[in-house]
Amino acid sequence: MFYPLVAGAILVGGALGSDPASPPPPVDNSFNVSTCPGYSLHSLSETDSGLTARLNLAGPACNAFGVDVVDLTIEVNYETETRLHVHIFDTADSQFTIPETVIPRPNASSSNTASKSDLVFNYDPSPFAFWITRRSAPYNTPLFDTRLSSLPATPIAPVMAGDPLTALDGFPLVFENQYLQLASALPLGANVYGLGEVIASSGIRRDVGTDGGVGTIQTNWARDIQDPINQNMYGIHPIYMEHRFNSTTDTSQSHGVFLFNANGADILLLTPPNANVSLVEYRLLGGTLDLYFFSGPTPLAVMEQYSEVIGTPTWQPLWGFGFHLCRWGYTSVNETREVVAKMRAADIPLEVMWNDIDLYHAFRDFTTDPIHFPADEMRDFIHELRQNNQHFIPIVDAAIGKATNNTDFYDPYLKGAELDVFIKNPDGTEYIGQVWPGYTVFPDWFAPNTLHWWTEALKNWSALGVEFSGIWLDMNEASSFCDYSCGTGIDISNTSMQFLLPGDPGNPITDYPEGYNSTISGPSGNVTVNGTLTYGATASPLSTLSKRGIGAGNQTGVDLNTPPYTIYNGFTGLSNHTLATNATHAGGYRELDTHNLFGLMEAMTTHKALKTVLQGQRPFIISRSAFASAGKWAGHWLGDNYSLWEYMYYSIQGILQHQMFQIPFVGTDTCGFQGNTDEELCNRWMQLAAFTPFYRNHNQRGAMSQEPFVWDSVANASRTAIAVRYAMLPYWYSLFANASMQGTPPVRALFWEFPDEPELFAVDRQFLIGRDILVTPVLTPNVSSVDGIFPGRGKTVWRDWYTHEVLNATSGANTTLAAPLGHINVHVRDGAAILLHQTPAYTVEETRQGDFSLLVTQSVDGHAFGTAFIDDGVSDPPGPSTIVTIQASMDTVNISSSGAFHIVQKLAEMTILGVTQRPAAVLVGGQVKNFTYAASQQKLVASGLSVDLNLGTTIEWK
Ligand SMILES: *[C@@H]1O[C@H](CO)[C@@H](O)[C@H](O)[C@H]1NC(C)=O
Ligand SMILES: *[C@@H]1O[C@H](CO)[C@@H](O)[C@H](O)[C@H]1NC(C)=O
Ligand SMILES: *[C@@H]1O[C@H](CO)[C@@H](O)[C@H](O)[C@H]1NC(C)=O
Ligand SMILES: *[C@@H]1O[C@H](CO)[C@@H](O)[C@H](O)[C@H]1NC(C)=O
Repeated sequence: MFYPLVAGAILVGGALGSDPASPPPPVDNSFNVSTCPGYSLHSLSETDSGLTARLNLAGPACNAFGVDVVDLTIEVNYETETRLHVHIFDTADSQFTIPETVIPRPNASSSNTASKSDLVFNYDPSPFAFWITRRSAPYNTPLFDTRLSSLPATPIAPVMAGDPLTALDGFPLVFENQYLQLASALPLGANVYGLGEVIASSGIRRDVGTDGGVGTIQTNWARDIQDPINQNMYGIHPIYMEHRFNSTTDTSQSHGVFLFNANGADILLLTPPNANVSLVEYRLLGGTLDLYFFSGPTPLAVMEQYSEVIGTPTWQPLWGFGFHLCRWGYTSVNETREVVAKMRAADIPLEVMWNDIDLYHAFRDFTTDPIHFPADEMRDFIHELRQNNQHFIPIVDAAIGKATNNTDFYDPYLKGAELDVFIKNPDGTEYIGQVWPGYTVFPDWFAPNTLHWWTEALKNWSALGVEFSGIWLDMNEASSFCDYSCGTGIDISNTSMQFLLPGDPGNPITDYPEGYNSTISGPSGNVTVNGTLTYGATASPLSTLSKRGIGAGNQTGVDLNTPPYTIYNGFTGLSNHTLATNATHAGGYRELDTHNLFGLMEAMTTHKALKTVLQGQRPFIISRSAFASAGKWAGHWLGDNYSLWEYMYYSIQGILQHQMFQIPFVGTDTCGFQGNTDEELCNRWMQLAAFTPFYRNHNQRGAMSQEPFVWDSVANASRTAIAVRYAMLPYWYSLFANASMQGTPPVRALFWEFPDEPELFAVDRQFLIGRDILVTPVLTPNVSSVDGIFPGRGKTVWRDWYTHEVLNATSGANTTLAAPLGHINVHVRDGAAILLHQTPAYTVEETRQGDFSLLVTQSVDGHAFGTAFIDDGVSDPPGPSTIVTIQASMDTVNISSSGAFHIVQKLAEMTILGVTQRPAAVLVGGQVKNFTYAASQQKLVASGLSVDLNLGTTIEWK
């Protein structure tokens, strides 16, 4: 099929044009690192919980890409039974490390000792190398093993055409001020997952390469780019999980490795020629070698253990699980309002309406366009939404338009300048880049007054009329359209030329928004920001830019602009299309070290600000850029995807990745963002995305409309899928409560639940919601059936969600399912007990005001189990909650509850599947009840109940 793209139309949120399949530009990293001397260990001191030692450079410095650090310290801590921390840093403490204010270090259990740990640290003193084993299986292949001196330093085949990745052979430990390298052996062809946000052509299982080949280069450099394939993009998450299957025992174990380092980096997965191992290799532009190992041994346990280090995901408000609608190109408040009305007229549930940058005046944050989005009309519109239990979310771009002259009273800029909250040039002057508003400055999230200033800006915007329920953070890699501080030292009052950017070679900066007119692009006319900001005279104290005894990264002698090693950034130069690496933050931090933290820190600051602006309510934030731990503050969307079938498929791996990354509230631009979608694609996609956490249809400016009411078939498909979603809200919400409490991922790859079935290890065209719901979407055009694998190898019973029929699934291989347009296959696992809303309504609030129903799918032995977490769905911090526990045995279902939240709605209906014979009587709480029984589905339904879930009950059948 042919998918036309709209000529000249561009991308929201403003990424820059490029072909999704174009290879990264070539780099030259010629240096034979195998000549580097490595280190030797001395001054060892061991304690019950670990060890400390020094590492000395073991020979003449090689100075491969910087200056070798002669004196290192290694600290090994057995922090919990399942977590081992290995930190190799410069003894002088001058390398950058992530400040505690950005990501606090986890607490170690005080009682843990080396002997209790699941993991064991082993080492050779000279040349220094270490390896990690499992205490329970000391002779199995180590989980991590840096003893690679026996591997020949032979050339590695290029990973992509034109890529001269051949010189960097050899795998010694290298620790230089601007280059760190560490490699570890993996089993040949290892099952590796994660490593960072990526659209991987290999799928969720990363490519480790074959004989002499590099399979994966994951580059840690946050980048504003329209969803490219196999290249660095918005978010950075240096964690991987490896899953090992032992075919002797038919069992598996997973472990995780997290690199706590924010510097620019390449992480490679490769297989040397003629070797019997594959490798993971870290190449870092700075910082320290700071590794956390998680022992698992299940995939879910690895992820939970990771959350103990970086924090569990923020609590989402219940309304956040409703359907969201957005596009770039709603030209006025009235057009936005009309879309809301059309959704209602089509009876397609709409929970949250969004506006993109169309809302702004002169593309400036915290403004409204006085002609098309007058602030008072926005207020009225948002009040209308609220009266209907609906919500509004606006976009916030990272850069702040710079006031161009002394009558340009743009308060967010003026107050920010006064409070010293913007990023600087090395000489202390303002760093000035260019984004949509023309010349812009950038918030410095390290500066002491930034939180206060940002909070006031959001508060004033809300007071002006934009009474948002949540915030959408865009362009926060951070994106800048010109190189370096292009506005410094020039007359910026004439903004008319600002978008005539030359296309930098190798930097495909070619497109600007359709209709972007340089005559009106710059700040012009009055900016309608409330001019009465009142900043406190007492600024918040600078105090806590703690460096935890390790360096701030302000060491001298560093090449700030062009580090000697070139990482595989898709834009080549580190400063291209973003803040330059010499941009300077409060506390002396440089952009070279902190670039990857911008999105995380903006999300954190916005989260804290919303706690003030929307007191008592959970901050709802969606951020494009992220770093490890961003899930504590925000959710994420997968950025500027394409309206293409393959991108619908890629959305599944993106959603699964972010479960590992502890940002479970994630979704994709449903129906696709760039280019024109079509009816069939949008139909399938509206159905698929209804089973993913963040459910938003978003479209680019100038493309064909793609709201779900545009086509009747899509409207029907959407209503069907949204009804299932809203019925399942108690289940979704309980899964997210578990994520917020202990880091358990709500959406799961199949092998996370069935880890001993190797045929599942690469499956990413299907996924599970929690333990119990399996989704098998159609991901290709022109078909009316779909193939899916049903885990459990015949021992697990899967029932159709809609008909409750038992699926006759093939064991360990694909089963073909009917999938006419408008139908998405959903199956329920046996042994499940799922609390549901009985009657999905137009909004989440109306849905939750109705009664509950219960679906129990008994396993062959009659067993079923489930819990539901119920609270008010909005309080921050979360208030009282009640957990309803449902437990089934052969002919009884027990419902009990504990907790202080009073559940008003009653349980009205129970459906029990797996009841093999028509019972003579059904008793609920000891009283005889009417029931129906369907032998073909082994289905017992008792309805007309009025069970008080606070008290619980028992249902029995005889
Ligand atoms: C698989 O398990 C067996 C039995 O425990 C063990 O001897 C063997 O070393 C394991 N294989 C690997 C590759 O770890
Ligand atoms: C929106 O429509 C109302 C009613 O027709 C009208 O009064 C108002 O001026 C319109 N607003 C804009 C911004 O066009
Ligand atoms: C740009 O805007 C100016 C002022 O509104 C207008 O006169 C001009 O026609 C526009 N140019 C284009 C190409 O739309
Ligand atoms: C000052 O800047 C504003 C906003 O860009 C513009 O409307 C105004 O014309 C400028 N004034 C002068 C004197 O240039």
